[in-house]
Amino acid sequence: MRVLGIETTCDETAVAIVASRIGGDGGDILSNEVMSQIAQHAAYGGVVPEIAARAHIDVLDRLIARALANAGLDISGLDAIAASAGPGLIGGILVGLTAAKALALAADKPFIAVNHLEAHALTGRLTERLDFPYLALLVSGGHTQLVAVLGVDDYRRLGSTVDDAAGEAFDKVAKMLGLPYPGGPQVERAAEAGDERRFDFPRPMFGRPGADFSLSGLKTAVRQEIARIGTPTERDIADLAASFQAAIVDVIVDRVRSGLRLFAEGGGRPNGLVIGGGVGANGAIRRALTRLCAETGLRFVMPPPALCSDNGAVVAWAGLERFARGLTNDLDFAARPRWPLDAEASKLHHGKA
Ligand code: KG4
Ligand code: ZN
Repeated sequence: MRVLGIETTCDETAVAIVASRIGGDGGDILSNEVMSQIAQHAAYGGVVPEIAARAHIDVLDRLIARALANAGLDISGLDAIAASAGPGLIGGILVGLTAAKALALAADKPFIAVNHLEAHALTGRLTERLDFPYLALLVSGGHTQLVAVLGVDDYRRLGSTVDDAAGEAFDKVAKMLGLPYPGGPQVERAAEAGDERRFDFPRPMFGRPGADFSLSGLKTAVRQEIARIGTPTERDIADLAASFQAAIVDVIVDRVRSGLRLFAEGGGRPNGLVIGGGVGANGAIRRALTRLCAETGLRFVMPPPALCSDNGAVVAWAGLERFARGLTNDLDFAARPRWPLDAEASKLHHGKA
């Protein structure tokens, strides 16, 4: 089975074609086209929704053609068309969703609406053999949550951020330090030369029951420290970045630990921990979670950074997983700028997504 997946919920326009392997051993990425809009948003220090939507329109047709050409296929060679239908920026979602529906209608193929968070959560099964249930940590510019992945279309959100997303915190701290957008990779680089013990930043939610996150207090503490310093030197910037990153790493490890306890209280043992979202590319976070998993005897599934940040392959894969279970959608499926992974969680939490 081959599925084409389209991703346009944020600032990456992406199209990929993924084929399933026999026996549930993951998938083969036949093509994976990603066009980042970072350059168009950089001057504004963040994603501008209107610019994003227009930029998706400009390049999506070309990316679809390229994804087909690089996979050596034409539309008739596909079994279904999938697109992220949310959560995210409505203008961008509409571009990808409408294109996917048009392709499905024209080629008479099934259409599949994918939840963008589900795409990140299922990535562990694209890259290797991983059976349900497992725990997924989704950390990106828009989302920070822990999800029990019990099956396809069967997710329990264990916790999420009550304020800033992890990527948002990295980006805001980078801005305060005078580092360019997107700030995550810049903060990580600056932190390499820094002393993480110089500033004792707060670890919000550390040790609390549940698996919610809160990161805005940490960001504020960094802002206050910068104000005290005045004009930070390169040394200060490195130490601030390192101390901030150490705090966020501690929080993430603690929240995952707490998430594992919640998982166990639910009566199960996860077959692994999967990380997804752009912040999942952070080396310090990857190393800390590798240690945590080694210590708790949990398998750590760490997709390559290119499959952690937004891309079409994980949308195509989630489409394949749904298609294999007969989960297709009508062409009147509406875009969902907000779309929590499980309905229960949306009543309990007011976090993003
Ligand atoms: O998943 P993603 O590509 O897009 C969405 O937000 O959906 O994630 C982008 C976010 C940005 O906030 C970026 O600063 C952050 O991921 N990021 C990182 C790193 N690479 C990207 N944060 C920390 N360390 C990194 N190495
Ligand atoms: Zn994402």
